[in-house]
Amino acid sequence: MNEILRADNVSKKFSMGGKTVDALSRVNLSVFSGQYVSIVGPSGAGKSTLLYLLGLIDSASEGQILFKGKVISDLSPRRKARFRGDHIGFVFQSFYLLPELNCLQNVAIPSFIQDPKKFWKRKEIYKKARIMLHKVGLGDRLIHKPAEMSGGEMQRVAICRSLMNGPSIILADEPTGNLDSKNSEVVADLLFSLCREEGKALVLATHNENLARRADKIVKLIDGKIVGS
Ligand SMILES: Nc1ncnc2c1ncn2[C@@H]1O[C@H](COP(=O)(O)OP(=O)(O)O)[C@@H](O)[C@H]1O
Ligand SMILES: [Mg+2]
Repeated sequence: MNEILRADNVSKKFSMGGKTVDALSRVNLSVFSGQYVSIVGPSGAGKSTLLYLLGLIDSASEGQILFKGKVISDLSPRRKARFRGDHIGFVFQSFYLLPELNCLQNVAIPSFIQDPKKFWKRKEIYKKARIMLHKVGLGDRLIHKPAEMSGGEMQRVAICRSLMNGPSIILADEPTGNLDSKNSEVVADLLFSLCREEGKALVLATHNENLARRADKIVKLIDGKIVGS
């Protein structure tokens, strides 16, 4: 298997009111192509911080992030944004859909942001978004706005959006944390099957043990340190 993403000895400190919080301490993690990794641990353990560092949303205080063996954590902000758009899909606990846009527009938007020149391809982009929404069972919700949908439906839209630019890795932060158990299962099944179908790696932070157990590798964090994997 090929390694695609690696956290190499990363630490993250936050300063708050004169105090320093060690959110992550010397964490090493490799993610291989097509692999599922679960990150578990109590609230405050550093799960979200690790995902944000892996996804270049935040920067490490020490250590590096590598993509296919090349250091990417030292790229300029502009190149980091480009890298994220090209290679990484994010799914968050709170969905973060844009309230003014309908489902179809919410799914299509990463493609327009990534490359404004793609505007001439908009028919193609919307077609792809429509196909994905049909796949996740939302073919009859294309022009609904987030406020008109359930949490489970919103998360299914967010999953489609995360896949829109063809990333090689999906980073999901408590994707079922706001859903009831039935919707959690539907959303988790979709996330797993779509990633499997498209050969994506998936790194998933979760409190849900049943969800965590479905991964190829489980990494346990406590107080910012890996205590088992
Ligand atoms: N922006 C921030 N400023 C200060 N402290 C933070 C910030 N983000 C996270 N932390 C702290 O870092 C630690 C890890 O947080 P987090 O990664 O969100 O944990 P988890 O996702 O496992 O619940 C916690 O102690 C949290 O309070
Ligand atoms: Mg978190």
